[in-house]
Amino acid sequence: MHHLKALSFAVISSLIIFSCDVMNKLSTVSSPNGNLSVTFSLSESGSPQYTVQHGNTQIIDTSGLGFEFRNLPPLKDGLQISSIERRSHNETWQPVWGEQEEVRNHYNELLVSLKETDNQERVVKLRFRVFNDGIGFRYEFPLQKSMTDSLYIMNEQTEFALTDDHTSWWIPADYDSYEYNYKQTKVSEIDASEFAGENERVDRQIDNFNAANTPITMKTGDGLYLSFHEANLTDYAGMTLGVTDDLTLVSELVPWADGTKVKAKAPFSTPWRTIQVGESAGDLAQSFLLQNLNEPNKLEETSWIEPMKYTGIWWEMHIGKSSWGMEEAAEGSFDTPGGSTHGATTENAKRYIDFNERADIKGLLIEGWNTGWEYWGTDSLGFFDFTTPYPDFDLQEVSNYAKERNVALVGHHETSGQAAHYETRLDTAFQLYHDLGIHHIKTGYAGGIIPKGEYHHGQWMVRHYRKVVEKAAEYQIGINAHEPIKGTGLRRTYPNMMTREGIRGMEYNAWSEGMPPEHTTILPFTRVLSGPIDYTPGIFDITFDEYSDEEQVKSTLANQLALYVVLYSPMQMAADLPENYLTDDGNFHPMFQFIRDVAVDWDASHILDAEIGDYVVTARKEKNNDTWFLGAVTDENERTKEVSLNFLDTGKTYKATIYQDADNAHWQDNPTAYEIKTREVTADTTLELWMAPGGGTAISFEAL
Ligand code: NOJ
Ligand code: CA
Repeated sequence: MHHLKALSFAVISSLIIFSCDVMNKLSTVSSPNGNLSVTFSLSESGSPQYTVQHGNTQIIDTSGLGFEFRNLPPLKDGLQISSIERRSHNETWQPVWGEQEEVRNHYNELLVSLKETDNQERVVKLRFRVFNDGIGFRYEFPLQKSMTDSLYIMNEQTEFALTDDHTSWWIPADYDSYEYNYKQTKVSEIDASEFAGENERVDRQIDNFNAANTPITMKTGDGLYLSFHEANLTDYAGMTLGVTDDLTLVSELVPWADGTKVKAKAPFSTPWRTIQVGESAGDLAQSFLLQNLNEPNKLEETSWIEPMKYTGIWWEMHIGKSSWGMEEAAEGSFDTPGGSTHGATTENAKRYIDFNERADIKGLLIEGWNTGWEYWGTDSLGFFDFTTPYPDFDLQEVSNYAKERNVALVGHHETSGQAAHYETRLDTAFQLYHDLGIHHIKTGYAGGIIPKGEYHHGQWMVRHYRKVVEKAAEYQIGINAHEPIKGTGLRRTYPNMMTREGIRGMEYNAWSEGMPPEHTTILPFTRVLSGPIDYTPGIFDITFDEYSDEEQVKSTLANQLALYVVLYSPMQMAADLPENYLTDDGNFHPMFQFIRDVAVDWDASHILDAEIGDYVVTARKEKNNDTWFLGAVTDENERTKEVSLNFLDTGKTYKATIYQDADNAHWQDNPTAYEIKTREVTADTTLELWMAPGGGTAISFEAL
């Protein structure tokens, strides 16, 4: 029942074409509710430009659009309008899995066809879609003589001219990575030079310090929320946004090794450039703009795609209890010495499977099962074949043992960044998992990309990541990608693209200064706008002193539980060691009950209250079940929030189990102090939630 094939119904489309003779040079298209509008115009010199209005306020000033090419003159002025078409669209579709049962896709569209007036006579179309929750536009290059063989884009010059120096939440425009703590500054103060040292790594590259990766989110002086990103990134370079002195964001595409930004051939379309607009932070998080700008589900059979919670032979490597590799690690390797500390042994895998069976947690990720980890991070090439298990790991035996206990293995392919090599091994590697009945795998690209000089977010890798998703679908495999390209709503088209990293996630708490408590109050309104996040929550041994006395997670235990609701993902990890979910007498830790109960697929989701960087309160209703879950997290400040339960069904009584911080809890010196309370509530109840510094609250509501 979770896997209804996406259906479209109630599609209403209308098309009106205007003859070019009667058109003036200004065309406006508004959202269905009339709140947002985009006005397209041509300047005196024939340059395309647009503005955006929200109510009576201009939110994007006159902004230019255009291109520079290697083999052709620029395309940005000397254009005339040859036709304008208008269209409306209104449908409701059902995701295979997701935050809610149904998604409304409702917009008005303006398609402007432009033609050069000089003898080049090149043609480009601009398609604008205006929704109630934001806008998207893209460039379309129809088939034409000068672009049939090859087109080398050296620059896309899409502008977003801001009307003020808004407050922004951003990470640097690193071409390889999104693994940064968010900064909150005025747009004019976006300056990533403090991260310059990162450029010494082979898997980091920041070229422009006054630029950000997307999504970048802002709050205006009027209290409006804006987020800039892109949708349907297909066979194109990822976009970063540079900030000019006059507060204009300008697209800066991630280059190929040879400096070209995009290699294409007409006909083709760029990804959608998007601006999500909300009157609250929660509006942004409840927008489906990105998915609506992607094509409907292409997979016919989706019953094998299963949202799930999973544990992993994983955290133990990050905290140094065990290692990925079995042999002594080569010099320069990321790995710790192997030998007796190897994590992925048959015996250890069985221990996890037993735990999963007992806890009723479906998935088990096993990293370090295959040979090659001794060379991970070194300059050696092709050391992972993705099919040969270490001698102390019997893949068939572990797989059988798991199947008998209804545990689903989550496969693992770490490529070390060697994507070209991985492509040569894809079929064999997927076939192996397919034969074992494994339907979910985690991929990884931790290292500099090979072919050398390519970036994680450039067109070469965008093609690669897509190839992996498509190929995986052929083998009925769902993907959890680490060191990925950002999400751009493709999960609608390929629901086997389930979740991804692309964030500074839990692992950083294991071996670095980690993330400040506010991190998880920013994520739902920045990174998570782009799609599900494999943040890997659920650490119970917050300080893990047995393995390291310096590092710790900067959160309370109750906060860890709340993340299962606050950070959306159809694959959600219970990341800690199994032994940390048990008490000394061998019973489950009382707080673990929430992880056992919490859902991963939803009928409804509501952001009840939030301020970016301060706190978030989210409620979600389990798919096909009358159970609700609430998660609330705060930053470094303690906080009390009054929460109305009016999202619950009226007329029903629910048993609320409240997992909260104890009075004396604090992320720094008392992170595991908790309390569990139960009470009966209805839709009329208002709860007062107190959260400790770095704390949170998690609640399950069971209909009685
Ligand atoms: C980095 C990934 O983010 C992490 O989850 C994984 O354990 C290692 N690479 C090894 O693949
Ligand atoms: Ca704050």
